[in-house]
Amino acid sequence: MTLLQWKPEYSVGVDSIDHEHREMIDLINDIYKRLESDTNEEQIEACLGDIFSTISMHFALEEKVMRNSNYAEYQAHKEDHENLLDQIRDLMDDYDVDSSAGAARLEQGLSSWFAGHFSTFDARLHGELAH
Ligand SMILES: [Fe+2]
Ligand SMILES: [Fe+2]
Repeated sequence: MTLLQWKPEYSVGVDSIDHEHREMIDLINDIYKRLESDTNEEQIEACLGDIFSTISMHFALEEKVMRNSNYAEYQAHKEDHENLLDQIRDLMDDYDVDSSAGAARLEQGLSSWFAGHFSTFDARLHGELAH
């Protein structure tokens, strides 16, 4: 089962950013499948590590762009990024205990974060920068 589907309303209107967002969704879907199918622990750990670094890099880039342009919503946007990174860290911490709990955590927390963040914070940011 696929956890997250790309939706047209996620598009921020900048192709390179949309491309990175789609990659993030693909990574999350991949780990979700692995958690559901009980893939071995090392593979899961490697995937979580990849997800964390890919997403961190994307966030660092957006935050740099915001700082450089004195973007008014910087603080709130950054806090929402930190919220997702915290959720991924929590997942990394407790998936060892129970991998189905890890899948449930992805379903509950991360899917709503993706739906929310792209179409609000990122849409406003990239919409403004595009002008
Ligand atoms: Fe963002
Ligand atoms: Fe983004």
